[in-house]
Amino acid sequence: MFNTASLSGSKPEQYAQLAGQAQALLSGESDRIANAANLSALVYHALPGLNWVGFYFFDGNELVVGPFQGLPACIRIPLDKGVCGAAARSGQTQRIDDVDAFPGHIACDSASRSELVVPLFRNDALVGVFDLDSPDPARFDVEDQTGIEDIARIFVRSLG
Ligand code: SME
Repeated sequence: MFNTASLSGSKPEQYAQLAGQAQALLSGESDRIANAANLSALVYHALPGLNWVGFYFFDGNELVVGPFQGLPACIRIPLDKGVCGAAARSGQTQRIDDVDAFPGHIACDSASRSELVVPLFRNDALVGVFDLDSPDPARFDVEDQTGIEDIARIFVRSLG
C-alpha cells in the first residue's frame, strides 16, 4: 500500500513533500499509463480545490485523453483548440485565472473556473499535457505553477 502523508508547511514546502511522494510512487516504473494514473490520483487527493486532474497525450496529430481523476472529459483536443492545445502548441504552461475569458476554452466540466496546464516534452518531442482544473476562480498562483511543473518533470523523467 502506498501511504500519502498529508502536506504541511508553506506552499513551496507542501509541493516539495508532494514531489517526494510522486518520486516514490513512480520509482522503478516507466509505464506511461501506470504513472499517469497514479500521479493523477496522488495530486487530485493531495491538493484542495480541484475538480479534474489528468493527462492528455499527443498521438502525432492531436491530444487524446489519458488517465485522470474527475468527471468524464473531452476525448480529443486539436492543438489549435483550448487551454490544453495552447500549452502543447506553445510549449508554455498556461495558468488561466478565468477560463470563461480564455478564447477557445473547452468546457469539459461546466464547474471549472480556473485551469493550469503544463506541457510535457521528452527530448524536445511533445508527449502531451498535464491538466488541473478548479471550480474556484484564480485557484492557481505562481507557486502552484512551479510545484506542478516539478511534478510534471518527475513524470517525464519516469518515462526513461
Ligand atoms: N479545459 C480544457 C479541456 C480539458 S478539460 O479541462 C479536462 C481546455 O480548454 O483545453
